[in-house]
Amino acid sequence: MPRLGPKDRLVIATHNPGKLREIAELIAPFGVEAVSAGELGLPEPEETGSDFVENAVLKARAAAEAAGLPALADDSGLEVAALEGAPGIYSARWAGPGRDFRIAMERVERELTGKGDRRAAFVCVLCLYWPGGEMATFEGRCTGDLVWPPRGDQGFGYDPIFRPEGYGVTFGEMAPAEKHRIDHRSRAFAELVPAVFGDPDG
Ligand code: IMP
Repeated sequence: MPRLGPKDRLVIATHNPGKLREIAELIAPFGVEAVSAGELGLPEPEETGSDFVENAVLKARAAAEAAGLPALADDSGLEVAALEGAPGIYSARWAGPGRDFRIAMERVERELTGKGDRRAAFVCVLCLYWPGGEMATFEGRCTGDLVWPPRGDQGFGYDPIFRPEGYGVTFGEMAPAEKHRIDHRSRAFAELVPAVFGDPDG
């Protein structure tokens, strides 16, 4: 698989500002030049896949082919055990067209009414796709439980109701660096690093 080095340009195939900020922070130490799908004016493909992997691949492929550059896409979401994994790949859609996550978090809480099991996991699949068609996917998970009412204003999406296992605070109450030490996106990224930034001879 091709490697990425300091002079290479990499498209971050997302239009979600929260994800863009977090992915930009993760790749910063590797010195590649990151450019976002938004900056390049790339269209946002419809997420028609039936799981995180399919959606990550279709987003990365669309960006790589449109830009003629390697592209990194993230498909992620919250899986709630008592809701059979919902909202899962529909996590963004539960927030409605205005992407109001207060609405999405309230729906989760409403659907959990009367259910004792509050376990949940954030899942992230990263896909790196080269214009020639080579690609790889990497997955990370972070387990925890859901609290109500929402707590904290850090992060994005469902962060204020998700308390990672072993912690008393939600992602919404954690400093970004602390969240990145344990979250699903940095775990997927830890899988990606040796495959993509590693020394091909090393
Ligand atoms: P998609 O991958 O664009 O379909 O959107 C995934 C959705 O999952 C986001 O819009 C968020 O609602 C949610 N999500 C993914 N990662 C996180 C996270 O780190 N914190 C909070 N919500 C997240």
